[in-house]
Amino acid sequence: RILILDFGSQYSQLIARRVREAGVYSEMYAYDMDEADIRAFNPNGIILSGGPESVTADNSPRAPEVVFNLGVPVLGICYGMQTMAEQLGGSVENGLVHEFGRADVKIEQADGLFKDIQDEPNTLHVWMSHGDKVNTLPPSFTVNASTPTCPIAAMSDEARHFYGVQFHPEVTHTKQGEAILKRFVIDICGAHGLWTPEHIIDLRIEQLRAQIGSEKVLLGLSGGVDSSVVAALLHRAIGDQLTCVFVDNGLLRLNEGDDVMTMFAGDHGMKVIRANAQDRFLSELAGVTDPEAKRKIIGRVFIEVFAEEARKLDGVKFLAQGTIYPDVIESAASKQGKAHVIKSHHNVGGLPADLNFDLVEPLRDLFKDEVRKLGTTLGLPHAMIYRHPFPGPGLGVRILGEVKQEYADILRRADAIFMEELRKSGWYDKTAQAFAVFQPVKSVGVVGDGRRYAWVIALRAVETIDFMTARFAHLPYDLVELISNRIMNEIAEVSRVVYDVSSKPPATIEWE
Ligand code: XMP
Repeated sequence: RILILDFGSQYSQLIARRVREAGVYSEMYAYDMDEADIRAFNPNGIILSGGPESVTADNSPRAPEVVFNLGVPVLGICYGMQTMAEQLGGSVENGLVHEFGRADVKIEQADGLFKDIQDEPNTLHVWMSHGDKVNTLPPSFTVNASTPTCPIAAMSDEARHFYGVQFHPEVTHTKQGEAILKRFVIDICGAHGLWTPEHIIDLRIEQLRAQIGSEKVLLGLSGGVDSSVVAALLHRAIGDQLTCVFVDNGLLRLNEGDDVMTMFAGDHGMKVIRANAQDRFLSELAGVTDPEAKRKIIGRVFIEVFAEEARKLDGVKFLAQGTIYPDVIESAASKQGKAHVIKSHHNVGGLPADLNFDLVEPLRDLFKDEVRKLGTTLGLPHAMIYRHPFPGPGLGVRILGEVKQEYADILRRADAIFMEELRKSGWYDKTAQAFAVFQPVKSVGVVGDGRRYAWVIALRAVETIDFMTARFAHLPYDLVELISNRIMNEIAEVSRVVYDVSSKPPATIEWE
């Protein structure tokens, strides 16, 4: 296992992902992790991340000394390399030349970290992002790579297995980055590739059985990726000791409630209680037009319904949740800040005090792509594992203004046509999120000889990696035309379809 100490770089999470992609388990903690915790983690190797500060500034962060005394290989990246140089007796200068973006580095030593790795003879195409640089090597270090502006672009002390790279191997712009990180974690640290879905599942099942024993577990199943994977995993670990509660709030996509029941209760034979709360949600939402007020009502009623179902069950000790690693870590944080702050899960954040469960969170240390691989290995269908994210309040925030049964039914049908055509044309997987939005305005249309006034549907499709920024998807006009024709022809209550061409920012992805 590999320990990553985070100095706050925007790329730190990527290091953990790349190491895990190499099949090696890694965890990331703030740079000021306690010595005892570092020893207890018992790493095969340590990676020091980049960071925004300057080693030359007063009180800038340093790696705990124990990092260099454990006798395990250490790789410093960018700031991590600079603090390594400083702490081991070299020096860093506040760079006059700032280097950002693509650079070619010349390999000066081909048999160490870069063994058998190059883009062109003796050259690596890398991604640089730094102002400071190491200008004096620590004793017993040698130069491994250089650029004209950064003569010490990589360094190592082969005897102690200490390495530093000024560039960022964790970003995909560094073409050989994955190979370099693999070389470090597998060849140099000797950490071996046990981090496969099968292995994770076996490990988790063992841990879950040890934690749960013969107790009962309750899970709020939403039909989303995370809770579905938790359900499949727990079912395999403890079988009928698991009860799932699926709250149907009437704001789900077409046939979704039935599909969830068929898959989990039917195909997988799990105990799933479907709470049919559609009318209750709709009546609580009647007359409410403010988006935030709608969100609060949907959240509150969800908790009420879930708690009522939970109280009907006897002797449940544990509540399982689909918390995943990005929910848990705050990458740029330290003890002074907010390292490992636990975000309350938006679904079951506020259960009433009398429902005092112990938590089971088997995905707490996994990234989304790892959760997906687990799900596929557990036999969940590809289409459900790779579906777009769906907001907790569901269609409640995709019907602008007041939510009504009639609007929800129209929107569901329009959305289903949109999804069907996106899947058929291969565009579903090319977009990160796509959905229809109900506009509560009537627009004129003409059918045969008559005019009709009917509702407007907006189509939204975006490309994004992190959902913080997004570009509207450039769907082919022919596809948009096909979808629009189908919606207007098959749904008499719709007279007009529009395509949303706003990017985020300044627009958001959802309309409310
Ligand atoms: P925005 O609209 O803020 O959305 O650009 C970014 C991402 O967050 C999702 N979203 C929500 N998810 N409850 C959720 O669980 C909500 O209230 C909510 N609002 C937005 C949205 O679908 C997109 O993926």
